[in-house]
Amino acid sequence: MTSQWEEFYVTHSTPADYEENKKKINDFCRNVSAERKIVLVTSGGTAIPLEHNTVRFVDNFSAGTRGSASAEYFLEMNYAVIFIYRLKSLEPFVRHFMGQEFLDMLDVRKEGDVTSVVVKNDCVSSVLPVLTRYKSAKEAGHLLCISFTSLSEYLWLLRAACECLASFGSRALLYLAAAVSDFYIPSNQMPVHKMQSEAGAPTISLQLVPKMLEPLVNLWVPHAYVVSFKLETDEGLLISKARGALAKYKHKMVIANILHTRKHRVVLVMPTTSSEIVLSSEEMEAGIEIESKIVAVLVKRHDFFRVEPI
Ligand code: PMT
Repeated sequence: MTSQWEEFYVTHSTPADYEENKKKINDFCRNVSAERKIVLVTSGGTAIPLEHNTVRFVDNFSAGTRGSASAEYFLEMNYAVIFIYRLKSLEPFVRHFMGQEFLDMLDVRKEGDVTSVVVKNDCVSSVLPVLTRYKSAKEAGHLLCISFTSLSEYLWLLRAACECLASFGSRALLYLAAAVSDFYIPSNQMPVHKMQSEAGAPTISLQLVPKMLEPLVNLWVPHAYVVSFKLETDEGLLISKARGALAKYKHKMVIANILHTRKHRVVLVMPTTSSEIVLSSEEMEAGIEIESKIVAVLVKRHDFFRVEPI
């Protein structure tokens, strides 16, 4: 009998850029040296289209801060990073220079016939360190960024990345920070064209998305260190839901967070223990990001797991 997750892939055709993205992932993985660890970071929310020719969609909340900041800290810890992110959500390095602020850092310089664009002198100290880290990661082939928009694009990319990561065994860490929708309209139940208001208010019936953590942990990357996230708005549900996910999928850790406190508090829930990371107000004022602490703990745990895989 076909399982629900298999059914999803049977009924949702591969995205147009799937083969191209799969090749990018394969090429990237082939160039990761034998001693380097690798992490897949997923980031941003998935969109659920309401029409095949999509004008409207239901979205999942996520700015991509967690994923993009974590990707930078994993690079600092010498990991190769595959960053799968929602198009237009935050990206590593770029996240430091958003919108108009970035243009305000630049100047136009004319010398004779030559016109060039330069970073203003008083902005060099903020641009240079980020640019240096970005260039070094890219030139060394340690960072690959691939975007998705819809749930289906995300799930196809997730599986393609896992197929490559399987060969890394326990060297691979999966850090599933994307906010993945639990509900969707199956492809064969979606109207082709934009829904028309003349037809009256539509009744939209969403179905449950199969939980991909199940095949991911058991079949796709059975030897990897898998970390999922749990986002709740009700503190009373947070730890029990995280524990429930661990018991069900049998992966290594759930990082539990509450929507409004996620930037300064997370709980790392493991099968037999749990620990909290809380940023003090002094740390927040000093610009310390909670992701630096999360990644530091994970890197230690991942190293330990590689020696004593359980
Ligand atoms: O991006 P920011 O604004 O910084 O916010 C970060 C965050 C709050 C989005 C992040 O820290 C977070 O909690 N991400 C996970 C949110 C989420 O999707 O939780 P969930 O309870 O719906 O899913 C739990 C896990 O199951 C996730 O790791 C997801 O990858 C996985 N999942 C979800 C749905 C599905 N159909 N299959 C899955 O495998």
